[in-house]
Amino acid sequence: MNLDDSRFQASESVEPTRICVIGAGYVGLTAAACLSELGHEVRCVEVDATRLAALARAEIPIYEPGLDELVTRHTSSGRLTFTDDMASAMDGVSVALLCVGTPPRSDGEPDLRQLGRAATAAAAAATSDVALVVKSTVPPGTCEALELFVGGHAPDGLRVRVVSNPEFLREGRAVWDFFHPDRVVVGADDSDLARVVAGLYPSSWPLVACSRRSAELVKYASNTFLAVKISFANEVAALCEALGAETDKVLGGVGLDARIGGAFLNPGPGFGGSCLPKDLSGFIAVAESAGRPSEVARAAQRANDTALITLAAKIESALGSLEGRTIAVLGLAFKAGTDDTRFSPAVALVRELEKRGAHVRAHDPIARVAEPGVHQVADPYEAAHGAEALVVATGWEQYRELDPLRLREAMSGHVIMDAVGVLAIEPLRDAGFDLYGIGRGLVTSFAPVLWRPLEWMLDAGQPSGVANP
Ligand code: UGA
Repeated sequence: MNLDDSRFQASESVEPTRICVIGAGYVGLTAAACLSELGHEVRCVEVDATRLAALARAEIPIYEPGLDELVTRHTSSGRLTFTDDMASAMDGVSVALLCVGTPPRSDGEPDLRQLGRAATAAAAAATSDVALVVKSTVPPGTCEALELFVGGHAPDGLRVRVVSNPEFLREGRAVWDFFHPDRVVVGADDSDLARVVAGLYPSSWPLVACSRRSAELVKYASNTFLAVKISFANEVAALCEALGAETDKVLGGVGLDARIGGAFLNPGPGFGGSCLPKDLSGFIAVAESAGRPSEVARAAQRANDTALITLAAKIESALGSLEGRTIAVLGLAFKAGTDDTRFSPAVALVRELEKRGAHVRAHDPIARVAEPGVHQVADPYEAAHGAEALVVATGWEQYRELDPLRLREAMSGHVIMDAVGVLAIEPLRDAGFDLYGIGRGLVTSFAPVLWRPLEWMLDAGQPSGVANP
């Protein structure tokens, strides 16, 4: 990423503030680096010793375009420091950002223990009144509960208040997103406090100031809506396939309606990552506990599970059977542009194909899957060697450049499933491949429902003629 495109405009000044950022994961590290770029003095607390040692050498433990440059610049300028010592990090600080993980529990509800621990430690180390700003995604009501939870831990005479300021960054585009936000959401129970937190960002950025539980719900509802959009796109794609309609044109045509918008209408193996699936489950759980179950959210979740199974079944049907067959899977990251494989549909697909008897050889340009049983190779042609089918499961641009003739030579079969729509169709067809995709049918598919509209045109028992509209 060209940083000049992604950083803020120098004219957008902010009042420099000393900030403590707790947690140097995707959210915390991006926030820390970008806030220091905005002019703040940022102390970032990280308890993981290996990660901390890497950061001290300005090595970025995650793949995030543009982030390494910002971290290097501001560790050199002294505006960004890393430590595992909460006491020194909180010294003289009145704003601390909580950026720890809220992973899903087995029942779908978020595990808030890291948040509780981080907030308690920050409150205990406070040397002045402090605002704990929750950046992590949490269910509505969490900030209020957290304020009660940590209240007794602050040194005598000091007040700890909790503010919600959810993060809307996408992995792989986090630095860009930070400096080009659609909105900054600040939920506080006090307008002065809201102003302090909003003042961390340039005043030209669109601001939604609201209550804490509203801010928390903006984040949950946004991610849930994105999940609903993707699941709907996957269902429309399946319908296109059944009807013989052109998926690209249909979803493209739908997305051109400004009220709908084309983003997040790309069909694929289903949504994954550490956010959409988790926040959808969280939203469902919160809606249920509030006595307002969300049928729409539940349906999006079911449709997402169906998308992956349908994809595996389609590959199986293209090959006849998966028992003992060798399949190349290209892509393991949950989406292109990241090395993150958490809740990756690509990894889930590998598992599903193996469950159905296939031997899978996988490739990803940067993601590495640590789990045993995933056979990963360093080169896409090596993955393709001897394979009867090849599946593109993550939309890396470089897969577009694959040489069809080299693939044809490497593979023993001629089936390609492009689950993410990155491949150019014609050159592969010219090289002799049968190319399938999401919303693109098997070679045997036909449009079986022509008789329905015909039937509806017939007005049985009535004299023929054209009725007035
Ligand atoms: C998501 C949201 O987009 C961010 O706004 C939010 O801040 C973040 O979660 C979070 O809660 O922290 P992210 O998980 O990085 O960001 O990834 P997305 O770009 O949203 O993609 C999520 C999944 O949806 C991926 O598996 C992707 O391949 C899939 N997707 C996305 C589709 O299948 N089709 C689409 O059209 C778009």
